Amino acid sequence: MQEFKIYFKEILDRKELSSIDLNLLNKAEEILKKAYAPYSKFNVGASLLLEDGTYVLGNNQENASFPCGICAERVALFATKANNPHLKIKKIAITTKSEEFNIESPIAPCGMCRQVLLEYEEQQKEPIEVLLFNETKILKFKQAKDLLPLHFSEDRLKRK
Ligand code: THU
Repeated sequence: MQEFKIYFKEILDRKELSSIDLNLLNKAEEILKKAYAPYSKFNVGASLLLEDGTYVLGNNQENASFPCGICAERVALFATKANNPHLKIKKIAITTKSEEFNIESPIAPCGMCRQVLLEYEEQQKEPIEVLLFNETKILKFKQAKDLLPLHFSEDRLKRK
């Protein structure tokens, strides 16, 4: 038998966070208010911190043609890579807030967003810290890789 271990830290008090992390959380909470989610009414916010101190924000964008919609994480990630392809991503924070849904625990990114995040992490050869949070709890992962064991990697597309 083999196993994967996933390490993460659970933080119950925001006072334990650095001012940088607090800032990142606040920005994710702010940007989710501007999500375009008229169909699900499930607003998600994602904030990224780049190596030069820039913050890039994203929220989910839906469409009447449902599959056109895109998650907050990929909105922020693709905007980052479109505008600053050479800057490394240091951290990403993800959250939702709603009175209509049960958000007793932090939301976690979908499989597609994990795949996108992980490819950028591998490309930059430096870990991207992931903070999943709600009002009461923060789950901190040291690297995106921990969120997607056995992922499909771009090196599989290299021919023999
Ligand atoms: N969504 C995100 O933006 N990020 C996640 O991590 C999970 C789901 C969005 C997609 C869709 O607009 C809505 O939330 C409901 O699935």
